[in-house]
Order: sequence, then C-alpha cells, then structure tokens
Amino acid sequence: MSDEAKRLAAAAAVELVQDGMLLGIGTGSTAEHFIRLLGARVADGLSVSGVPTSDRSADLCREFSITLTNLDDTPILDLAVDGADEFDGALNLIKGGGGALLREKIVAGAAKRFVVIADASKEVAALGQFPLPVEIIPMARQPLSQRLSNMGAKVTLRQAADGTAFRTDENHWILDCAFGATISKPADLARTISLWPGVVEHGLFCGMTECILLGSDDGVRTIVN
Ligand code: 5RP
Repeated sequence: MSDEAKRLAAAAAVELVQDGMLLGIGTGSTAEHFIRLLGARVADGLSVSGVPTSDRSADLCREFSITLTNLDDTPILDLAVDGADEFDGALNLIKGGGGALLREKIVAGAAKRFVVIADASKEVAALGQFPLPVEIIPMARQPLSQRLSNMGAKVTLRQAADGTAFRTDENHWILDCAFGATISKPADLARTISLWPGVVEHGLFCGMTECILLGSDDGVRTIVN
C-alpha cells in the first residue's frame, strides 16, 4: 500500500483540526504524516496543544514546534487522531504494532472524538490476522502466554532489534498473539483479557472510534459505523 494513501488520510484528519483545540496525537507512520502536516499548519499560525502517545511522536512534535501538553493539565481532549493495524466493519481496531497501545488507548479514551487514519490494507472482515499486542508485567509472561494459547493464539514475546525483550515507553513487555483472523467477538475477547492479572492493556479498541479516514491513491473515504 502506498505511503501516499496514508498521507492523504492524515491530511483529511488535519482538516478537522481547529484553532485552540486540544489534540491526542498518535504513533506510527500514518500518525507521523499527521504530525508533519499539523506542523505545517502550526507554522502558518494555527494554535493547538497535543498529548503525544509515545516518546517518538513527542520528539517529532517538538521538531515541528507543536506545543505539547499532558493529561494532568488537559484531561479532556477535543480530538485524538491515530493509526491502526486492523479495523473491521464495526470499527473495532487492533492497535499496538508500534508498541504504543497503552498510551494510545489512554489518550483516545480522554478524547471527545477519536478519528482513525489508515490505508486500505488495514480493512479486514474479521480481526486477528495482525497479531494482537498484549502489554504485560514481565513477571506474568508465562501464565499469560498459557492463557492466551488456550484462547487459540500463537504467542510471541516481542523483541527489540538487539534481541532483548522489547520495552514499551512505560517499561512493560508485549506478547504478540496471532489469532489468525478468528476474532469474531472482539469486545468479548477484550473483556476477558482485561481481567487477567498481569495484563496492563491490550490492543483491541472496541466502541471507541468515531470514524475511519481511509486513504487510497484516489482520495479519502470516511467510514462510520
Ligand atoms: C502504534 C500503532 C499504530 O497506530 C499502528 O501500528 C499503525 O501504524 P502505521 O500507521 O505505521 O501503519 O498502533 O502502536
């Protein structure tokens, strides 16, 4: 899928931004387009503040002189914009491919509107082809791996480039759980996983998304539920 499709989706999201807004700012290659395009509007005089969903998005915002804030000072955001790894027809998402799912869900949950920007490769009939990231406390790795395997997933501990366990911005581990496009009831699975001791958060975002701005080389389609 072309990078231009992601850029067009991001550009459509930037058009939703109005002067004075408090924003949630996502993570990933599509969100990076959003940050760059938002930065261009800030350079033209737009005044906004944003809560970034990762350290790397915060760094990029600083590069583009986008004012950063946090949920202590601004607990309610006007609009959060983020990418996704998969979405289904009910606008349930899998997120966390970039490892930022915990902050992403906190920020999306704090926003009055949560808008997802994506290209067509992210649209699926049933979630699960993309391995579901589950952020965990390291001590709980084995019990949680077994529980997730019992649910039908092939479970892998995410690794960093140097072969050690990948650490999230909040210093947790991630179990990537390949269900193979069999998550037919995402909200049920989300509730179940959330109850297990040692789970910090998981990448199922159910009932949170207002719309998907779906970019293609021909333009942008808005998908609502
Ligand atoms: C990061 C995420 C991203 O939004 C997701 O991985 C999509 O990334 P990209 O825009 O690069 O395809 O959830 O944790």
